[in-house]
Amino acid sequence: MSPPAATKRRPSNRSTVRDASPAKGPRGAKGGAKPSVKAVRDFRPDRTDAWKRLVGYAKRSDATTLRMLFAKDPKRATKLSIEALDMRVDFSKQRVDDAILGDLLALAEAADVRGRAKAMFAGDRINITEDRAVLHSALRAPRNASIRVDGTNVVGDVHETLARMAAFAKRVRDRRWLGHSGRAITSIVNIGIGGSDLGPAMAYEALRSFSDRNLTFRFVSNVDPTDFSEAIRGLDPATTLFIVSSKTFTTLETMSNAKAARAWCLKAFKGDQKATARHFVAVSTNAEEVSKFGIDTANMFGFWDWVGGRYSMDSAIGLSTMIAIGQSGFAELLGGFRDMDQHFISAPPSRNLPMLMGLVGIWNANFLGAGSVAVLPYDQYLSRFSAYLQQLEMESNGKSVTLDGKPVHWNTCPVIWGQPGTNGQHAFYQMIHQGSWIVPCDFIGFCEPINPVGDQHDQLIANMFAQAEALAFGKTSGEVAAEGVADWLVPHKVFAGNRPSTTILCEALTPRMLGRLIALYEHKVFVQGTIWNVNSFDQWGVELGKVLAKRIIGELAEAKPKLGHDGSTNALIEWYRKRR
Ligand code: F6P
Repeated sequence: MSPPAATKRRPSNRSTVRDASPAKGPRGAKGGAKPSVKAVRDFRPDRTDAWKRLVGYAKRSDATTLRMLFAKDPKRATKLSIEALDMRVDFSKQRVDDAILGDLLALAEAADVRGRAKAMFAGDRINITEDRAVLHSALRAPRNASIRVDGTNVVGDVHETLARMAAFAKRVRDRRWLGHSGRAITSIVNIGIGGSDLGPAMAYEALRSFSDRNLTFRFVSNVDPTDFSEAIRGLDPATTLFIVSSKTFTTLETMSNAKAARAWCLKAFKGDQKATARHFVAVSTNAEEVSKFGIDTANMFGFWDWVGGRYSMDSAIGLSTMIAIGQSGFAELLGGFRDMDQHFISAPPSRNLPMLMGLVGIWNANFLGAGSVAVLPYDQYLSRFSAYLQQLEMESNGKSVTLDGKPVHWNTCPVIWGQPGTNGQHAFYQMIHQGSWIVPCDFIGFCEPINPVGDQHDQLIANMFAQAEALAFGKTSGEVAAEGVADWLVPHKVFAGNRPSTTILCEALTPRMLGRLIALYEHKVFVQGTIWNVNSFDQWGVELGKVLAKRIIGELAEAKPKLGHDGSTNALIEWYRKRR
């Protein structure tokens, strides 16, 4: 993309940044000293000139269709596509033109996205409500890099952990990690939830073709005992290893499942506690709780409070991934993340993939009124990718107060959803093509098939191209009528078109490419969170439900609980208690 003229404009009301008083130590749930970083911004995107102009463009946008934009500029596809890192990302089917893009870039400049990205990569405590640095980029930094948190270079610790993970993974892969009875471990069960499950589960599916096929991998997350029961079905405790993954090691679901796993394992070994050491390892930041659970901290792989749960799959949380694909495969995955980090931090905004992904998302959500985004990978191996992105995007940017604690007056994170094509085509695409909502789509496909069978891969990718084309250009009533369709039927067969999508066409689904794709979305989330001026790195919204659940668990156990909820909740509890 050539940089539109508007990017050179100096925004009149730049973000104002004020220094807060220095931190006095970690901030507890009740909050301590004021945040230490230059992060409490009173930036209001809707007060920028760029935003105001974008509102004006949006009012006229129905009059400018994708058909018109393509007709006006035969080079549009080339101009609005970026080739980088073995992928071609085509934004030309987004409803943007030079003026819109120029002001989106001006908005990013007003929000100081680049400055804030540098602050994040440098280890500033930009997660102000938890007074933490946000350094998932350090997890993939090369050994010789220096990234300091409180004066300590954290890269050394990262590589030390990677080396321990590699040694452990190798022992399992070489069948040298033996269970309590002396038989080699061949089944690995990751127990975790949220960021301690979605990344490992998604990556295992995505990279299955690179995995040791003689090892069995299962993932348990839900507190619903069905999840655990089904996961261990057919497994032999003597050859099963549990990886208990939890940043805090206090999460209800994970601890309940870990206890169930321990009971299942110890039953097989007639209560011999020593079995735990051979069948359980932990991934956590909380050594004390790990040890209380009975796992030897020698078998614990640590990470740090500056790694958010949803940004942790490339930390020790990826231990199951490393066991599956080996140390070199994991190094490739990290290399992919790093490629995108470098691209994000160095490519000019108008050619910067995460920046543009973030900005077209802002255009669609804040100006075209799209309340959701469908992520549609045309690759069965990416069957868990949308679920992974749901946490990444929605837990990060599903916020409605700004960094300085004021209500937002603009929409923030849309709903993220989707599943692999072509399956979705026979289910929900009807709504995307002809429904009343605009659903911007991300199509993701790969040129090289992993499992070539006849021309099926061509069929797959042809479908992806066709869907994006149909969404963008539709079919007019004139075109339908010209096919000889009866007048009364014509309106039903019309496709309005003008429905936006981005196509991400990659060379091949390798560990490296997966790392690039994930980091692309991580930084897209950062761009959007910065413009919306929310804290993308906390998740207070999950707390209230957890507290209430704890109280209700107690009430379900008591003989005659005194219920003090609202009428509806009290009645539901009583009805359940009578019938369970
Ligand atoms: O409840 C939300 C959450 O805190 C997520 O942010 C996190 O990924 C998940 O729970 C699991 O947390 P932990 O790894 O501490 O068990």
